[in-house]
Amino acid sequence: VSLKPYNTFGIDVKARKLIEITSLEELKEVLRKSYASELFFLGGGSNMLLTKDVEQTVLHIDLKGKQVNKESEDHVIVTAMAGENWHQFVLYCIENNFGGVENLSLIPGNVGTAPIQNIGAYGVEIKDVFESCEALDVQTLELKRFNKEECHFEYRESIFKNEAKGRYIITSVSFRLTTQNHQLNTSYGSIDTFLEEQGITNPQIRDVSNAVIHIRQSKLPDPKVLGNSGSFFKNPVVGKSTLLRLQKEFPEMPFYVLNEEEVKIPAGWLIDRAGLKGHREGDAGVHSRQALVLVNHGNATGQEILALSQKIQERIDNLFGIKISPEVNIF
Ligand code: EPU
Repeated sequence: VSLKPYNTFGIDVKARKLIEITSLEELKEVLRKSYASELFFLGGGSNMLLTKDVEQTVLHIDLKGKQVNKESEDHVIVTAMAGENWHQFVLYCIENNFGGVENLSLIPGNVGTAPIQNIGAYGVEIKDVFESCEALDVQTLELKRFNKEECHFEYRESIFKNEAKGRYIITSVSFRLTTQNHQLNTSYGSIDTFLEEQGITNPQIRDVSNAVIHIRQSKLPDPKVLGNSGSFFKNPVVGKSTLLRLQKEFPEMPFYVLNEEEVKIPAGWLIDRAGLKGHREGDAGVHSRQALVLVNHGNATGQEILALSQKIQERIDNLFGIKISPEVNIF
């Protein structure tokens, strides 16, 4: 089988066998019969670059379902199964007036893979609304619950990408969302400006979602039209001395202060400043409207995208003395 429809980069690699997993029982059954090392787990396929054929059996996690539990006067706990599409889940929350995920509108991928890299955008990260998740231990076949602390969330990081990599399959995620007195977060990016332009003075969660959708669509490519995995690199965190050195040469460089000692620099700006925005090598390219996004113009191989990404890393290191690292998982 071709995995092209299963990864948002649209990379055409083959897998020996692909099984759709629609129930927990099916998942356990497959795990009982095989070693975890013979299996390859796939969710929304939105944060990975496939560079070679997959020898293992691919399990496409397609568990569906949602459940709402009232927690207090102004909070609910919403639990969604891993195979629910992330953006559909956000829309469901907005329909039901559950606040907290509206800034995360239109992020590709599924609910179950969202905690792995602590998805984030426009000033909100999944950890801000995360209550817990359930994950199947591939060795013991037992379900384990992880609360927020146990997930070790950081910027685009969690235990599932590090210490616990390969050990668990997230089966469902629970979110703590507001039903009234929503805490809107509109200061990031151009949300405020967009709302003002629309003449919206008393924004609701739906308005924030619409603003985010509008802003994202204006610069991020739709994976259905142009293969991509969102931001390919993480924004690098550097110390104050590096910042001062760079500011001398590039006074216009944007940065976000993280704490007393560190700032985060937009890798998209660095790549853009390096003259690589819109750059193309065959069908592998840098997006013309957001340099942090690498795109597949049609038939790029994973190897070609990887080679381009390495070239970018070298160029950024040579020009700015900064090392940037991929955000996507490279297989
Ligand atoms: N910039 C440029 N040129 C570019 C791209 C960006 O000069 O080609 C500048 C922008 O003008 C702005 C700054 O860099 O001053 C930051 O750009 P932007 O607001 O587009 O955000 P980002 O830092 O590039 C991050 C996330 C995105 C998220 C946005 C909005 C990471 C790795 N990426 O991008 O997340 O949507 O902020 O919150 O942190 C993703 O992870 O896949 C993703 C799209």
